Amino acid sequence: MTEEILKISGGRPLHGEISVQGAKNSALPLMAAALLCEGETVLTNVPQLSDVYAACRILNRLGCRSTAEGNTIRIVRESAELYEIPDEDMRAMRSSIMFLGPILGSMKRCTLTMPGGCELGPRPINLHLDAMRAMGVRIREGAGRIFCTAEKLTGAKIHLPIPSVGVTENVLMAGVYAEGETVLTNAACEPEITDLANFLNQCGAEIRGAGTHTVVIRGGRKLRGTEYRVMPDRIAAMSYLCAGAAAGGEICLKDTAPDDMKSCLDVLEQAGCRIGVCGDRIFLDRTGPLRSISYIRTMPYPGFPTDAQALISAVLCTASGTSMLEETIFENRFKHMGELARMGADIRVSGRTAVITGVSKLHGASVTAMDLRGGAALAAAAAGAEGITYLSGLHHLDRGYEHFAETFNSLGVLTERGTFSALEHTFSAANAKKC
Ligand code: UD1
Repeated sequence: MTEEILKISGGRPLHGEISVQGAKNSALPLMAAALLCEGETVLTNVPQLSDVYAACRILNRLGCRSTAEGNTIRIVRESAELYEIPDEDMRAMRSSIMFLGPILGSMKRCTLTMPGGCELGPRPINLHLDAMRAMGVRIREGAGRIFCTAEKLTGAKIHLPIPSVGVTENVLMAGVYAEGETVLTNAACEPEITDLANFLNQCGAEIRGAGTHTVVIRGGRKLRGTEYRVMPDRIAAMSYLCAGAAAGGEICLKDTAPDDMKSCLDVLEQAGCRIGVCGDRIFLDRTGPLRSISYIRTMPYPGFPTDAQALISAVLCTASGTSMLEETIFENRFKHMGELARMGADIRVSGRTAVITGVSKLHGASVTAMDLRGGAALAAAAAGAEGITYLSGLHHLDRGYEHFAETFNSLGVLTERGTFSALEHTFSAANAKKC
């Protein structure tokens, strides 16, 4: 087998301090927004992830020169003639739909296909298209492609039936170049949207209300590229906190935005962790037993994030008592539960609800990441489990976590990455030496 896997030796308390990466869910829309800017856009604190490189490829195909060096990405739009996102790029990354708003805003036309394979259940784009229609875009479908064209984009009053993060971001980006004012109600409030609005405003846009349910965009401004630091990744932070909670111990995360994580930190406290916050640092101390939480449901921000649902489920597997999790945002987000069961967890899933009855401990097993956050949840569970876990499906993890194995090692979780045979070889060699 040539596929790389992680070998995680768990069961020891964590200790250590790590820096948290920049937010993937902010970096991707910011990169798309660079299409709206004249001159150079420089994004710093961009995590080194496969999704980020996929976004670079899309930008380059659209006539930009985007270069990545460490955590800095430079983007210059050299030609403004290309408006089609090829099917292979649309399939490679679900967030490719983020390019719709800026391409339409800057070029008044865009051709694309449906974003790729849906790991969390159906991921329709009807609300994206409805919002663009409201701004004067004509949309026609044929031969598997979606053709969007407009004489001009016009400001509109748009009410979202669901506070969709991606649609809110697309409306912000299209609205900047629309004629007149766009008023978006029932907008999503996620901190990544505020980050995007701050970036656009720094480039010369006039957007008010981002981070609330009503956002007003005054169109018709020319944007100039700027240098901008991507906000901290609240879900990556929660992932490492959950590893600390599952395994116990004391850890410190720096470069975080604790104010954006209130619902996550509250839930960790309810589960028996002590949490301290000082500036951009979060301390987690879990020396006592874990406690079950009778009911958690995922909700749009500021509620408990769907992206953290899998992560907290890994913690609750060894909490005394019974916990119930309800997933209200995506249909198919419990795929990790079956894998946690392989590690000894007692979980019953029924539709969008999972009931977790705490067991005294989990044990290492061979498990597979079925999606991004599910993969991180399995790693968190493995940190607390006794024995060795082999985690495959790392392409999911690579979409969202920079240097995952190194970060786990910095927290005291012995983690190796390689092919199964190479890892087993080093393992047997080490054991032979001990003998
Ligand atoms: C973003 C995040 C993702 C997170 C999600 C919810 C990025 C890159 N991704 O995804 O990590 O899990 O927010 O916080 O930022 N919907 C429709 N029609 C549409 C669009 C969405 O029905 O046209 C539905 C979705 O199926 C889902 C709900 O709206 O049930 C919310 O999805 P949305 O907020 O749009 O998620 P994304 O922006 O795709």
